[in-house]
Amino acid sequence: MQISRPAPGVGALAPRARLTTDAPQQSLAGSWRFRLSPTLHEAPENWRDDDVASWDEIQVPGHWVLQGHGAPAYSNVQMPFPVDPPHPPMANPIGDHVLDFVADDALLAHAEQIIRFDGIESAGEIWLNGEWLGSTRGSRLTHEFDVTGILHAGENRLAVRVAQFSDASYLENQDMWWLPGIFRDVTLLARPAGGIRDVFATADFDPEAGSGSLNLAVEAEGEWRVEIPELGVSSSGEPAKLTGLAVEPWTAETPRLYDVVVRAAGETVTLRTGFRRVEVKNTEILVNGSPIMLRGVNRHEHHPEKGRVFDAEWVRAELELMKRHNINAVRTSHYPPHPDTLALFDELGFWVIDECDYESHEFVMVDWRGNPSADPAWRDALMDRIRRTVHRDKNHPAVIMWSMGNEAGVGQNLDAMMLWTKQFDPSRLVHYEGDWSCRNADVYSRMYAGHEEVEQIGREGLSPAAAGLDAAHARRVTLPFIQCEFVHAMGTGPGGMQEYWDLFEQYPRLAGGFVWEWVEQGIAVTGEDGERRIMIGGDFGEAVHDGNFVIDGLVSPDREPRPGLLHYAATIAQVQIRVDTSRATAVVENRFDHIDLSGVDLIAERVVDGETVARIALETPRVAPRGSATIELPPELRDPRDARAADIVTVRALTARDSAWAPAGHEISSGQDAHLAAPVAPAASGDAADVSTGSGQLRSVGPLAIDAGPSLGVWRAPTDNDWGRLHAEEDPTPYAERWRRGGYDRAVTRIVSAAEADGVVRVHSRTGVPILDCAIDARMTWTALEGGAVRLDLEIEPDGEWPTEWARLGLDLVIGAAPRGASYLGDGPMSAYPDMRAAARTGWWSLADDELVVDSVTPQESGARQGVVDASVETAAGTLRIRALDAPFALTVSPYSRDELARKTHNWELEADGRTHVSIDLLQSGVGTASCGPGALPRYRVAPRAVRTSLLFEGRD
Ligand code: GAL
Repeated sequence: MQISRPAPGVGALAPRARLTTDAPQQSLAGSWRFRLSPTLHEAPENWRDDDVASWDEIQVPGHWVLQGHGAPAYSNVQMPFPVDPPHPPMANPIGDHVLDFVADDALLAHAEQIIRFDGIESAGEIWLNGEWLGSTRGSRLTHEFDVTGILHAGENRLAVRVAQFSDASYLENQDMWWLPGIFRDVTLLARPAGGIRDVFATADFDPEAGSGSLNLAVEAEGEWRVEIPELGVSSSGEPAKLTGLAVEPWTAETPRLYDVVVRAAGETVTLRTGFRRVEVKNTEILVNGSPIMLRGVNRHEHHPEKGRVFDAEWVRAELELMKRHNINAVRTSHYPPHPDTLALFDELGFWVIDECDYESHEFVMVDWRGNPSADPAWRDALMDRIRRTVHRDKNHPAVIMWSMGNEAGVGQNLDAMMLWTKQFDPSRLVHYEGDWSCRNADVYSRMYAGHEEVEQIGREGLSPAAAGLDAAHARRVTLPFIQCEFVHAMGTGPGGMQEYWDLFEQYPRLAGGFVWEWVEQGIAVTGEDGERRIMIGGDFGEAVHDGNFVIDGLVSPDREPRPGLLHYAATIAQVQIRVDTSRATAVVENRFDHIDLSGVDLIAERVVDGETVARIALETPRVAPRGSATIELPPELRDPRDARAADIVTVRALTARDSAWAPAGHEISSGQDAHLAAPVAPAASGDAADVSTGSGQLRSVGPLAIDAGPSLGVWRAPTDNDWGRLHAEEDPTPYAERWRRGGYDRAVTRIVSAAEADGVVRVHSRTGVPILDCAIDARMTWTALEGGAVRLDLEIEPDGEWPTEWARLGLDLVIGAAPRGASYLGDGPMSAYPDMRAAARTGWWSLADDELVVDSVTPQESGARQGVVDASVETAAGTLRIRALDAPFALTVSPYSRDELARKTHNWELEADGRTHVSIDLLQSGVGTASCGPGALPRYRVAPRAVRTSLLFEGRD
């Protein structure tokens, strides 16, 4: 087996489009025989005729490492073996796959047959009935081989030897699991006489004329004819150009598809085509003449049990979930997905950046020495990859850009790939992030550029004067800008999305971005205790790995939305509503690029003290794309307000009709005007509150015992983002590290004085950190009130030089019984932080015990609810009610202590201590996105400062 050549596979047919054909096909998916050898050297030479009855069975498509053979391995930039191109390591598992099968008569009835492999990682050698068909390179790329005369009636034997690593691994160092195997479909296809080998349909829409045209390049044997049945048009033979078609255009918002049927004597193929025109004008990306905004995510193919094996229902469900969260764009990071995914993008409506299966990021570790992008020896391999990418997917209207790959440096081979792509398919844009000269790209693309730089790029686009700029910059400045990756959805976060989005909305050049990434790529295994566990890098004994950096998605490995997804959905929502009851208006902004709001219903609701007092359907204003309108609120929704009440007016935008991805009535977004009146505290009872004058601790509130606290806390269990280096800052030290060095996690309190007089307990405490002389002076005044409540008046004053900002400033209390849930009046219902709260709405929310904190794969701080004015924390021992007498607070209720969260590296290792940990945070730092990208913006950091507030506590058993 030749696996040390910087070359494409051998023997495959020329790449072509994936076509839906009436020619017979036979899937070879199912149970195959399998044998693993630890090295190529140890893999038997003569194996193809072996009796395989004793071999293991394996499911194809499948990864052998997820079926009990060997183990998955996760690494990001670093290679798991020496960078010694084009050689794979000696320790290179070899998987021999054998399938004995009977070919369908329907296939054999035709003159010719081919076999198609849609994905083999990393290199395959293929034999049919002892004849060598060839080899594959490009794990996520399709290879077809001619089997005419080799495939025969009766029993056939297909034998495929797969190397886990090969020369191709140097081109496939994407940030993901190494998952070898025949993981996509294997199919036999009849090639009829008089058949159609390939079709390239370019379906254009002329926005000025309002009509479409179809340009068809067909490779067929003999005569052929094209029809668009729905339009009643047809044409025969080359050149096939149908013009002046009365079509509705395709957009991600209106994914209108037409069947295009191509008939030849021996075969009919059907494409689903959408008519649209993609172009760049005046630094904007236009589709059908209108600028578009990419509300995107980066999507890896990942399933917690199956890895990158395609599951049609699962993928449809995940794309529908994206649509329900206002996502309209996908970058297929970092390889073309399973071919059927493209049809789903077309049907559901996504703008797609289809990316070539190419990443050579490992070479950054060696200063890009020997990078394949620049080495002519790899040119054919790379050209083969881009050709296979473009050909396979060229008929999909969803694809608006071809991406050359990811993080592959710069070089002449990339240039050649871009030039070929442009010349082959001028109807789409060419994307590559890694070369900021943009000499061949049609868009300027970056990843994780900070807010300031993005603003600068946006501003530059307002008057793209080339004078005085170097050549690269002069070209770049004429291009639209996207962030092919921005905000890193790792752990609690990402923060700062809204601030990016505001810039994207403000500057026409900024055409949006793609969150990194859609799904947390955790692998599920069954632990010794029978429990399902999510595994991360290193859990399979890898010597080289990148730990939990693979867990950085908007949804969990099981596709459960993380709070970040909800906040992203609100940030990017195509309908934005601002309610102002004092003016009796709501501003409704239409952020769709191509449609008006006729598909949107507006429902307004007024809730006073938890009771719905009005629910009214508002007339949706006629608003053109990217326009806005102000509507008047009916009298029931206006002021005057009851000054003693919580009075909330919410206007929701709902889908008016069923769509492929949501039933009518699905909420797109909402806007609110909320007035929350502070409660009036009862009079003092004259009794003393149950506060220890020795420790300063609150011992009980009414019948409810308090185990510990309140103590002052300035630390949180570091989030993944807190561990991120702040690359763009003067001091790049991660906050988690700064807090640890500053001893913020080990703060201790000394009671300066505590005394009771006239039923009022006054406690002066000083909270400091080990080693340093900085402190917080806190003055707590406790007053028992009539009815059993306790009032706390709190004054906090920092003292000395705190070495860095606080994570928060909170009062921490512990109740000696497990949490049962919480209900509150405040913003929610989801976890939110000051720089990640777009989705939170004011209301009466109630949380079950398993909704209090986020079950992040890696334990960390989560679960804060913002803007809380009234909360009831339910525990097995009773309920603690906490009310804000002036400023709202952030509430976190957790079954885990912060130390426990900080100590454990997997959620399944967490041990609840049977107590309820309550934090009332008066200040909280934003979360930012420093796990990859900028930290919390300065305005969201918490410089030590004085705070005063008043709270009311009540206890119930
Ligand atoms: C980018 C890269 C992604 C991913 C991300 C961090 O640089 O393109 O593949 O590694 O960083 O999670």
